[in-house]
Amino acid sequence: MKPKAAFFDVHPLDQAVYQEAMAGDFEAIFCDAPLSAENVSLAADAVVLSVHVTSPVTAEFMALMPHLRHIACRTTGFDNVDAAYAKAHDISVSNVPAYGQETVAEYAILLMLAVSRKLMPAAHSVQAREIVPEKLTGHELSGKTLGIIGTGRIGQHVAAIGAGFGMKLLAYDPMPQPEAAKRLGFTYTDLPELLAEADYLTLHAPARPDNRHLLGSDEFAQMKPGVIIVNTARGSLVDTVALIDALHSGKVAGAGLDVLEGEELLDLPSEIHLLGTAKLGDEARQVLGIEVLHTLPNVLITAHNAYNSAEALSRIRTATIDNIMAWHKEKAQNLVG
Ligand code: NAI
Repeated sequence: MKPKAAFFDVHPLDQAVYQEAMAGDFEAIFCDAPLSAENVSLAADAVVLSVHVTSPVTAEFMALMPHLRHIACRTTGFDNVDAAYAKAHDISVSNVPAYGQETVAEYAILLMLAVSRKLMPAAHSVQAREIVPEKLTGHELSGKTLGIIGTGRIGQHVAAIGAGFGMKLLAYDPMPQPEAAKRLGFTYTDLPELLAEADYLTLHAPARPDNRHLLGSDEFAQMKPGVIIVNTARGSLVDTVALIDALHSGKVAGAGLDVLEGEELLDLPSEIHLLGTAKLGDEARQVLGIEVLHTLPNVLITAHNAYNSAEALSRIRTATIDNIMAWHKEKAQNLVG
């Protein structure tokens, strides 16, 4: 009997590709929805689990999959997996390290331009036939200082594009890469200097417990008035309540957010369930935070979509299949845990 590979949160069009690639070695099963308490039983006897970032691979769920040996994340970030539990139970974890630095970097710049030039209000004003040019005055990127937090693959590509726009480039990264800085023309600073100097701040660091709320009220206080924040990395890097305060006070002029704390709760059944629980815990606070952000005209929110280009999706499929097959042939690659 072939070992079972369970794919969650996988687009129906992708299922055929994975099915064909797995057919010789695995019995592949597919579920359109993210992994949850309702569907985890589908993976009860899975040896390989493949997930998108929207599937929380918790210790509780892994405990229900006693045969699980490998988790193939179809994403770069893997903070949705309880890596400590996986390691302790001899479950290896792979990711797709480089499928889309261009895709995500272009999206970060798209958000930066859209917020800076008030693209959404401009489009809405045409729809509403209420065009008031003085309400739609924006700012150029040219000549402004771009602060890049995290100078890995995506951050470096953002630097290259920012240079093309004529921006001055500053960066903060606890693991600096001086040769990349020289090649791309950016300068490393510490975080306080970056916060004080940047007109635009863009986040490209992974989510880890130690950098939760990397940007909180102390950091917003240190920023230049009128700064624009772009987050295409992970929601947990920014304290939503502190961001709302900074938007209200005008310290932050606008934000482009592809990722948000609690974004996984943004579907109607989860929101209704949350209302029913009547407890204002962390999750309820996050949902309310998103609702407040939605009301602000200078905030543009998208649905964790920066990775979503045809080119990147094709690279993700290829890399995920390679990761699973390499693991199967005892030549595991792209291991992150
Ligand atoms: P990477 O691993 O190439 O680079 C991450 C960089 O962040 C490294 O240089 C690291 O030293 C730095 N870093 C770590 N902790 C930091 C901190 N506290 N402050 C500043 N820098 C720090 O990762 P890559 O490919 O550039 O991706 C970055 C993140 O973007 C991923 O971890 C993922 O969470 C997110 N992402 C989001 C997507 C989306 O659809 N919105 C798609 C792909 C990635």
